Amino acid sequence: MKVLGISGSLRKASINTAALKACGELMPAGMTLTVYDGLGDIPLYNQEIMDAGVPASVAKLRDALAAADGLLIASPEYNFSMTAALKNAIDWLSRLQPQPFMDKPIAIFSASGGPLGGARVQYDLRRVLGQLWGHVLPRPEVFIGSAPSKFDAQGKLTDETTRKFLTDLMAGFKTWIERMKKPGKPA
Ligand SMILES: Cc1cc2nc3c(=O)[nH]c(=O)nc-3n(C[C@H](O)[C@H](O)[C@H](O)COP(=O)(O)O)c2cc1C
Repeated sequence: MKVLGISGSLRKASINTAALKACGELMPAGMTLTVYDGLGDIPLYNQEIMDAGVPASVAKLRDALAAADGLLIASPEYNFSMTAALKNAIDWLSRLQPQPFMDKPIAIFSASGGPLGGARVQYDLRRVLGQLWGHVLPRPEVFIGSAPSKFDAQGKLTDETTRKFLTDLMAGFKTWIERMKKPGKPA
């Protein structure tokens, strides 16, 4: 079961990217994670660019998503919503046919320096991905608050409680992907 991980942050030292990488270690057997590198290469959406041909940076993301059984998104909250980089990538993909989010099992979580762990970005993400017919795992919800204190200087997730939350999320995501693949269920 292949999972594509996308971080909403472009920072090399991103706590969301670090948490995403930790998910690769915390996944149940039979699941593998590839963390996407290249969100920052995607130009700002402009239909005139699209009309001239889908940019290679967008096609690369489209192909990576098509090859994955599930999509795992970790995103910071910027001003109570998702980052421009993540929304821009979603906007590009949403204009393609076949539409890459259609019936795709998706899990989301967020990490933030603030106490709420970026809770608000998750509801915006659910709204946007839901209207694209992506199937976002309803629970468990994982909000990593005061996140910098939960990682060491090398970006390793050291907080045991957070590791347990992400382990539970990955187990739930595996079941969610299996459920979506059952006959009679979407995708
Ligand atoms: C433009 C901007 C807006 C932000 N807005 C919020 C916010 O609304 N809520 C929040 O919890 N943190 C906010 N932050 C702080 C981020 O949570 C913090 O920078 C976090 O480390 C970013 O995630 P990253 O480490 O994965 O890059 C904001 C940061 C930036 C740069």
